[in-house]
Amino acid sequence: MSSQPRILAFGGSLRRQSFNQKLAYIAADGARQAGAVVTVIALSDFDLPLFSEDFETEHGMPADAKRLKSLFRDHDGLIIASPEYNSSVSGALKNAIDWVSRAETEDEPALVAFAGKSAVICSASPGGLGGLRGLTHLRDILGNLGITMLPDQVAVASAHSALDADGNLADPKQASKIRALGATLAGHLKKHLV
Ligand SMILES: Cc1cc2nc3c(=O)[nH]c(=O)nc-3n(C[C@H](O)[C@H](O)[C@H](O)COP(=O)(O)O)c2cc1C
Repeated sequence: MSSQPRILAFGGSLRRQSFNQKLAYIAADGARQAGAVVTVIALSDFDLPLFSEDFETEHGMPADAKRLKSLFRDHDGLIIASPEYNSSVSGALKNAIDWVSRAETEDEPALVAFAGKSAVICSASPGGLGGLRGLTHLRDILGNLGITMLPDQVAVASAHSALDADGNLADPKQASKIRALGATLAGHLKKHLV
């Protein structure tokens, strides 16, 4: 590979103190340590209306949806820390994916913002399963969009006590597992990008 892999990392929550956003930062740190250039974003910084084809026909793609889609296009890999809502992904994350999946011109190839990407996923929840059930759904969604899903994933249970206010994981073993997730993606991209 001629240059460092570029990774986009974010949590799938709009909550200000999101456990998942904190997890995204830790995984991003691991990816950086492994040689990737990582951009961490927060979905709450993007003004994305609830996707509707009527809205799209009448107003086109909102500026922030274009901005998010362009970030996806400009990176080689994704780290997504996904909250579990009712055993699945959050509406905010699915809505973001739906906007990013849309073509801006008639001749744009389908799903261009996902093409050739690889991803790792993780989750954090105050519950005992750490959001594991939602990860199964997210893996399916992203895989169906053509993203290469690395098998590694981590679910952090009891997130309210596992993560402190500064976003650190109290258990060093758990912290190194999340960092390793980012490092694994960076390592994979280094091997597979030309
Ligand atoms: C609508 C809703 C549904 C939820 N469903 C689940 C669930 O199925 N499993 C779970 O472990 N936690 C569930 N939770 C709790 C979330 O895991 C918790 O709010 C968590 O903090 C969300 O992630 P965040 O901190 O990144 O925002 C739910 C929360 C909401 C608001």
